[in-house]
Amino acid sequence: MKNKWTKALRITIQTVLLVLLILYGISGYGITESRTVEMLTLGMLSKPLAFQVHENLVIPFVIFLLLHIFFRPLYGLFCKTKK
Ligand code: HEM
Repeated sequence: MKNKWTKALRITIQTVLLVLLILYGISGYGITESRTVEMLTLGMLSKPLAFQVHENLVIPFVIFLLLHIFFRPLYGLFCKTKK
């Protein structure tokens, strides 16, 4: 996996996963500590919005987590050049 495109793809998947994790945390706080989070975000992240964001993150999160964890075997399966 020394190819520069492979490396770029791996880093992109890791970055998206990190962003999703952060959003998960923030939206989770937006549900349990809604007053504080609403105040800190100047009213932008209300409790209903936080709930919606939190719920809708599950599918992209699972997809990127699986891509991240199974990158090596998937790479071997689809991208390895035959000798
Ligand atoms: C719920 C979150 C995460 C879980 C469960 C998880 C799980 C894993 C697992 C099982 C591996 C081993 C895969 C392998 O070596 O083929 C791995 C490797 C790795 N993870 Fe994660 N990870 C998570 C989030 C992240 C995030 C957010 C980052 C970076 C911002 C990250 C960076 C890495 C790196 C650098 C490796 C080394 C393998 C590689 O080169 O891709 N992980 N992770």
